[in-house]
Amino acid sequence: MPDIIISNEGPVRKVRINRPDKKNALTLAMYETLAAAIEDAGREANVRCLLIAGAPEIFCAGNDLNDFLDMARSGGLGAPIVRFLHTLARCEKPMVAAVSGAAVGIGTTMLLHCDQVVAADNAALMTPFASLGLLPEAGSSLIAPRLMGHARAFSMLVMGKSLTAQEARTAGIVTSVVPAAELDAQSFAVAREIAALPPESVAAARRLMRGSVEEIVARIDEEVDMFKTRLASPEAKAALAAFLNRKR
Ligand code: COA
Repeated sequence: MPDIIISNEGPVRKVRINRPDKKNALTLAMYETLAAAIEDAGREANVRCLLIAGAPEIFCAGNDLNDFLDMARSGGLGAPIVRFLHTLARCEKPMVAAVSGAAVGIGTTMLLHCDQVVAADNAALMTPFASLGLLPEAGSSLIAPRLMGHARAFSMLVMGKSLTAQEARTAGIVTSVVPAAELDAQSFAVAREIAALPPESVAAARRLMRGSVEEIVARIDEEVDMFKTRLASPEAKAALAAFLNRKR
């Protein structure tokens, strides 16, 4: 099975992250595939809504930390990561996420770009950026404080406090919490509901509600620059190595 499974069901493009043995951690190749699937959906008139999902026990453990360690040693941040982040910000089709299990790092921050987030009752959102010597990405330093206020965003993005599905709902990230067994059906129903609406009206409303895309892209680029510096720092190298060596 591929690491990213893409299928169209009627007007809904399903994009499922499928690397469960590594907790759906995203490799550079996976970022490329995700970005291409979303960009292609934007060009495809028949696709009216995207549905991003993970595996039953894990949505996404964030960036592959082996890749991060390689990048920390060589400097820079993989171009596929930046492409994916820009794609999230520039996407013009409505996006629904179906989250079960842990959503770590980009697994959480990508949700801030979605229009509806359906979470299973076993979902947990975690952004341990600072403890990894890193900082918030994907425009989250801009979007999260607007959504939930500075203090709650700080708890999550800097202090690394995780959120249960219900807490994420209270914070405004998650729209509904459902039993894990119903996640697929309920998230698909939401995507179908959006897809059934007049698409130009949805696109126009979405554009107005999201505000300036260029502001988000500019923040992503600012975060990327600072992220590269953080990644190359002794703090980050030590934290990444500690995670990867923890079972030895
Ligand atoms: N990058 C690379 N590999 C990862 C990974 C990541 N982000 N997250 C998990 N894995 C791998 C583990 O190394 C392990 O591989 P192994 O079986 O070859 O040893 C496998 O996935 C299972 O992970 P494990 O930690 O044993 O699962 P768990 O159920 O105990 O914990 C998580 C799940 C997601 C809570 C935990 O794996 C975790 O914290 N991962 C790192 C998340 C992270 O910090 N992401 C970056 C944020 S910026």
